[in-house]
Amino acid sequence: MTRNHRSRRLVTAGLTAAAALALAACSQYPHSTFEHSTEFNTAIDALWNKLLFWGTLVFVIVEALLVYTIFRFRKRDGGPEPKQTHGNTTLEITWTLIPIFILAMIAVPTVRTIFRTQAKAAPNALQVEVIGHQWWWEFRYPEYKITTANELYLPVGRKVNFTLHSQDVIHSFSIPRLGGKRDLIANHTNFLWFTPDSIGEQALNGMCAEYCGASHANMRFKVFTVTPENFASWAAHQQTPAAFGAVAAAATPGAATAATGAAAAQSVAAVDTAGNAAPHTKPATGPSVGTPPMGHDMTAMNANSPTAQSASFIAFPREKIPAFAVPSTPLPDVQFNDALKGDPERGRQLITAYQGACAACHSIAGNPSAVGVIGPNLTHVGSRTTIAGGIYPNDTRHLSRWIKNARWMKPGVLMPTIGTGQYDPILKANLKQGLSDEQIADIVAYLQALK
Ligand code: CUA
Repeated sequence: MTRNHRSRRLVTAGLTAAAALALAACSQYPHSTFEHSTEFNTAIDALWNKLLFWGTLVFVIVEALLVYTIFRFRKRDGGPEPKQTHGNTTLEITWTLIPIFILAMIAVPTVRTIFRTQAKAAPNALQVEVIGHQWWWEFRYPEYKITTANELYLPVGRKVNFTLHSQDVIHSFSIPRLGGKRDLIANHTNFLWFTPDSIGEQALNGMCAEYCGASHANMRFKVFTVTPENFASWAAHQQTPAAFGAVAAAATPGAATAATGAAAAQSVAAVDTAGNAAPHTKPATGPSVGTPPMGHDMTAMNANSPTAQSASFIAFPREKIPAFAVPSTPLPDVQFNDALKGDPERGRQLITAYQGACAACHSIAGNPSAVGVIGPNLTHVGSRTTIAGGIYPNDTRHLSRWIKNARWMKPGVLMPTIGTGQYDPILKANLKQGLSDEQIADIVAYLQALK
């Protein structure tokens, strides 16, 4: 076997393996926009099929004519010169009419689909305001007075109308499985609507689809399509203020085990320490201080009331979340003493005491001193499955490191580096005065108690 022959066989084998690998990667379609789950992607798919049909037809006919011409009229020794055609009116009219016909067949369905998908949404649609931030998502449900971040709950079978804005640069709101994708632009409102009607209860990935800076790839979110009943339960729960009081008061084991989800299991330690913590007191600042967090009724803000937690709350079951919707970003090199067990009450005090840092940027309904609007609303952060714009799972290991040095874990974030001695990649210096691991563990315990 010659060397040349062997290398050609190697290349063939390599190409075959690459093709097999590429096909294997397509064996599941978690992000396919072609599976009909809304009237939006049904319309887009129908348009795509039409365009593909006409494109294929043109390709096949043109290539066939080309190949025929190449062989039929190729130069032969001593052969005559083919007949030369110039100024044939019939031919010229024919090859002008054919493209006009093809363009019409493409333009009519395209324009029709654009008008259909850009029409005003039905008046009874669920309104969701989407605000893009570098690099996370704010979701507001004005009808329910809910403000949340990075996790979108949608009821199956109800039309949802998204109102899209940006707080800073251009982002693009994209949920491939639901077919939605539209830009978010500052000082301009875009709209997008669809009905998740044949998708059932699912956890889906959403992402930013427009390059928007250093952490564009880290700007993700989750979409949970749920039954109308579960949506109502979720919305009712989200309307309640922070449920920390309920967890602190729930020193009885029965109440603690009634909490839902895997995150609850993580905060069992927090509940234990909360039981031993000082008896619950009203926040020192009192409800009259500060403005109410966005979208929340002052009357509903019975701060840290033990009855505030809605017992009927049904989160999307974590065991039903498929692997592709669970973040797998490697845990960066931030050292943390994972043996520490935090105290949620001390964490609550730290949130407001620590140079005002947390409370100045984040809102926690029910905690009157936390009314910041720069970062995500943390009222029910303990019930979310991810943190940091969907790139890390919301568990103790990730959350503690995130608070300790967010800038190390996600390039360019506004969230400051907080852990003492940590290197701040933006200030390019080690932090002299920050929080200890014990203090961070307390804050984590508090945040995890905010179900
Ligand atoms: Cu936001 Cu890319």
